[in-house]
Amino acid sequence: MNGLKIVGMGRGLPVKHVTNDDLAQIVDTNDEWIRKRTGISARYYCSEDESNTTLAYDAVVEAMRSAGISASQVGLCIAATVTPDYAVPCVACRIQEQVGLPDGIPCFDINAACSGFLYGLHLLSCMPVDEERPFALLIGVEELSRVTDMSDRSTCVLFGDGAACAVVKLKKDGEFYSHIGARGNTEILNIPGLNKGMSYIHMSGREVFTFAVDIVEKEIERLEEESNYSLSDMDFVVLHQANERIIRHIQKKRDIPEEKLIVNIGYLGNTSAASVPLALYELWKAGRLSTGKKIFTAGFGGGLTWGSAVLEF
Ligand code: UT7
Repeated sequence: MNGLKIVGMGRGLPVKHVTNDDLAQIVDTNDEWIRKRTGISARYYCSEDESNTTLAYDAVVEAMRSAGISASQVGLCIAATVTPDYAVPCVACRIQEQVGLPDGIPCFDINAACSGFLYGLHLLSCMPVDEERPFALLIGVEELSRVTDMSDRSTCVLFGDGAACAVVKLKKDGEFYSHIGARGNTEILNIPGLNKGMSYIHMSGREVFTFAVDIVEKEIERLEEESNYSLSDMDFVVLHQANERIIRHIQKKRDIPEEKLIVNIGYLGNTSAASVPLALYELWKAGRLSTGKKIFTAGFGGGLTWGSAVLEF
């Protein structure tokens, strides 16, 4: 297993910020319902000259700059997304081309929906390490506005676009706690995809809500049973930002102090694979991740998929 250390972070957000009142102009909803039921006040949508790849590019450039590394030092690039601009080439290969990552390194995407970044961390802990190029780029990026049915009020108020990238230094024969899992289910959350005409998100919100709360609780129990960590050892808890009520439920159940919990769904909405790294980015940018800090992070989403990890700084 590899040890993982995040040494740089960056993000990419579209320019257009869409408020709940903006959405109430197009669909039968209102600011009060959305904020009360989800904690969301606004979200970003790509405009015509922005896309999944432009967001990923911005995140990668900032992350490499903050890590103080050049493209030639990157040995691996993984993008987690369900909304790539192209079916082929994948986002990671397009980033390789645009940023000038070394020829011959592995670059690929993973589709584990909102758990994508957690799946990516787990993969990084298992991948061969290129000792000459020990840095990996792990990107979470989504352009969900492209697959959002703007006439469906039960989903269109939830999702947003965005990207974040972590530069991760890999160390052979290190230690890293992570866990990933899945339970195949097409019914309660799907985006039909390429050959199915207009392809929008379909979700049975209540069922996903119940699944989410249950699986995060189980991932915390697993952490405490299968590792030497306990949740109370953690300096921060970063959960997938799907609904503030899910996060508050876990907070109450596990008595998580407010200052340890990261909640940024209010101005970003649910950005699927980008949500966990966008929350990590805020901690990073605020200078709250000094050496020795520990973060428990967990994600859940379509697939169904889920995952958790402990990041040590
Ligand atoms: O990231 C992937 C994972 N996704 C999630 O974790 C999402 C989990 N689910 C949720 O966050 C919540 O279930 C939702 C926010 C999607 C929905 O909240 P809810 O409290 O479960 O509401 P509901 O779907 O049970 O709907 C309650 C009422 C319904 O009206 P009636 O039938 O009671 O008259 C809906 O038609 O709220 C209505 N409603 C709305 N009203 C105003 C649904 N959406 C809206 C809306 N504005 N946008």
